[in-house]
Amino acid sequence: MKDKLRVGIIGAGWIANHHAEGYLKSGRARVVAVCDQSEQQALGLMERHGLKSRYCADYRSLLEQEDIDAVSICVPNKFHSELTVAAARAGKHILCEKPFVTSMKEAKQSLAAIQEFGVRCAVGFHRRFNPLYREMKRRVDDGSLGDVFFCQCDYIHNQMHLPIIAWQLKKEFNPSLFHAGASHCVDLLRWLTGEEIMECTAFVSTKSCPACETEAETVALYRFANGALGKVMRIAPTPIAGFEFHLEVYGTKGTFRDRELRLDSFPSYWEPRCRGEVVTYPDWVPNNSPGPTEPWDVEVGRFVEWALDGGDAGGLCTAVEAVRVAEACWAAVISSREKRVVSLPLAENT
Ligand SMILES: NC(=O)c1ccc[n+]([C@@H]2O[C@H](COP(=O)([O-])OP(=O)(O)OC[C@H]3O[C@@H](n4cnc5c(N)ncnc54)[C@H](O)[C@@H]3O)[C@@H](O)[C@H]2O)c1
Repeated sequence: MKDKLRVGIIGAGWIANHHAEGYLKSGRARVVAVCDQSEQQALGLMERHGLKSRYCADYRSLLEQEDIDAVSICVPNKFHSELTVAAARAGKHILCEKPFVTSMKEAKQSLAAIQEFGVRCAVGFHRRFNPLYREMKRRVDDGSLGDVFFCQCDYIHNQMHLPIIAWQLKKEFNPSLFHAGASHCVDLLRWLTGEEIMECTAFVSTKSCPACETEAETVALYRFANGALGKVMRIAPTPIAGFEFHLEVYGTKGTFRDRELRLDSFPSYWEPRCRGEVVTYPDWVPNNSPGPTEPWDVEVGRFVEWALDGGDAGGLCTAVEAVRVAEACWAAVISSREKRVVSLPLAENT
């Protein structure tokens, strides 16, 4: 068994910093190469994190290198599937940023390559490792919330100051802004409930940001296989608001809203004046800064363990799950375009 995972990072922008930190923190990985079309970007990443890595201008040359076991894919969304297929063919394990794929055709190609070449592939839904959300999941799984009948996730993000905005509003590089960001929400709702999404209806608009070629505001409603309902709201990239992320789960015996838990066993939980009838957890609501609320480092560390040691995926979002998430996001786009309720799974040519 190897003691260190030898990693190549492809794409040296904002999120690559969090991957680099995660690899360094894991103590079991070495970043041997960094690829970016901009040498300056790649060298900047290496300098910031003290990486002694080789620079590659083209991802193909990075994938040819035999002393690389795994790659982080941190480039714009349009390239995720192409790079996943190429990395799988080269026999590299993959940590791909979300969204994993941008069409069902890409989903089929990416899954086929991962299966054929037997590599491990995880997708960047790091909020599964947020301690608040792990506690929510524990409460769902152990039945203390009862039967979950509704869940919702809101994601509000002014992104205009981020480098990502240079390409994220363009359909060519990012076929859906809802999918790009709210896939975090959809992943959390699926993961928390443990239920597949069967139906979706949605409205989208670009009223707040006409420059956005896809969706700036989206409200999507979902129906899960067990009949529970879900809602995802995504407002980006120009709201006059700070970064906000809210997750709420409603069950027949309890309600967990962000950091507040109410159970039917608490006296007077229904009484508006009894503000004390609630358990308030630490403020681990996501805030877009590294730390427990945004545990990119934990996710990367899990990926290192999985790539080196095998076994189960350790709570990471697998490629198969990420395709289900992509489908549910695409269903919202289709629903709004075609003004209809969309059933899942989607057809392969979607
Ligand atoms: N998981 C999360 O919380 C999270 C947060 C932010 C971004 N992301 C995802 O990470 C990815 C990158 O986002 P970002 O914010 O780092 O963007 P960014 O614009 O800061 O960085 C992208 C980098 O990729 C490089 N690049 C573009 N095309 C390339 C190519 N063909 N080959 C090599 N390099 C190329 C660019 O030069 C740039 O340095 C996106 O898919 C985004 O959805 C995930």
